[in-house]
Amino acid sequence: MPHFSSRVSSKLPLVGTTIFTVMSALAQEHKAINLSQGFPGFAPDPKLIKKAAKAMKQGFNQYAPMAGWLPLREEVSALFERRDGVSYHPEKEITICAGATQALFTAIQALVRENDEVIVFTPAYDCYVPALELVQAKVHQVALRAPHYQIDWEQVKQLFSRRTKMIIINTPHNPTGTMMSAKDIATLAEITKGTDCIVLSDEVYEHIVFDGQKHLGAASHPELVSRSLIVGSFGKTFHVTGWKTGYVCGPEALMSEFRKVHQYNVFCCNTPVQVALAEYMKGERPEESLGTFYQKKRDLFLQALGGSAFEFQPSAGTYFQVLNYKKLSDDADTKVAKDWTVDFGIASIPISVFYQYPVQDHVLRFCFAKEDDELLKAAKRLHKISKTLLK
Ligand SMILES: Cc1ncc(COP(=O)(O)O)c(C=O)c1O
Repeated sequence: MPHFSSRVSSKLPLVGTTIFTVMSALAQEHKAINLSQGFPGFAPDPKLIKKAAKAMKQGFNQYAPMAGWLPLREEVSALFERRDGVSYHPEKEITICAGATQALFTAIQALVRENDEVIVFTPAYDCYVPALELVQAKVHQVALRAPHYQIDWEQVKQLFSRRTKMIIINTPHNPTGTMMSAKDIATLAEITKGTDCIVLSDEVYEHIVFDGQKHLGAASHPELVSRSLIVGSFGKTFHVTGWKTGYVCGPEALMSEFRKVHQYNVFCCNTPVQVALAEYMKGERPEESLGTFYQKKRDLFLQALGGSAFEFQPSAGTYFQVLNYKKLSDDADTKVAKDWTVDFGIASIPISVFYQYPVQDHVLRFCFAKEDDELLKAAKRLHKISKTLLK
């Protein structure tokens, strides 16, 4: 076994194995139902698979253009035009990325410098803060608290200054399943107006919204359009998370800086997958029925939990539902998530790990992007927990 003789000085000393890896491994070891990691438990549309296979057979197997396959960028542009009435120029203002994660990382690398201040809302998707630490930004975290997880804009105003280089938002929000309202968006626009602050808007669940609500992202407000990079993920929208393909769009001045890093980060992304996605999106607009599809799953899961001791606000968007277990245990969510995987065969994600400081609201996140029978089986196990542990 070769070994490195010097001490390695970590650039991310606080980063260990992610909670997703820990919980999925524990779920596998104990043959638990795994509602921890956020990926669809069902196959994508066979038509999309066919198109990817066809693209490979037709010879789309070499490098794509650096900014992405143009017909796919045109489809992304059309989507924003239809939904928000905003025109992103496919050649200058949209880039195809290796998943939203790469888009977020590249945006931070391209636009944030050492000591720049960045505001992040927690619980936050876990890739933002390490990316900010790598560029030695100063991170201000604003905690969203159970049960409503609303943004405290007064706190944001207090933290905001001319040193604030970036605000990262995520709507619909992982892990809480909340969405930003028109008032939230207007307040963010008002705070950033007349400043150099960039908004990095993670909207990977843009099509997974429920109860007739409309997704309001950064493109829904003209002030934010002019200062935002918006990130999306085809993986979330078309049940192909393993394809790791996403996009970023934003004004040309931001996009040209983004591309300077992107070209040395990945240069370009998977060609046949981009060709297939462009063909697929041109046809039936499958993303338009995604909200209805997932709302049925949310409702099935929550109805099946009726009569249990879990407390919840139905998720407004994403494929996550948070459940409060305080009637069942006073233990920390990290302990409860592990114990219930081992003792009751159901794996979830503890919310506290997504905060900067230990916050204990006794809340676990469950992913309902699973087959109906698996969701019903999961609900049965949660009922058993409820009966066994009710204080
Ligand atoms: C909020 C959020 N942002 C970004 C991502 C990453 O998306 P991708 O798989 O396209 O990199 C995820 C995936 O779980 C997510 O939940």
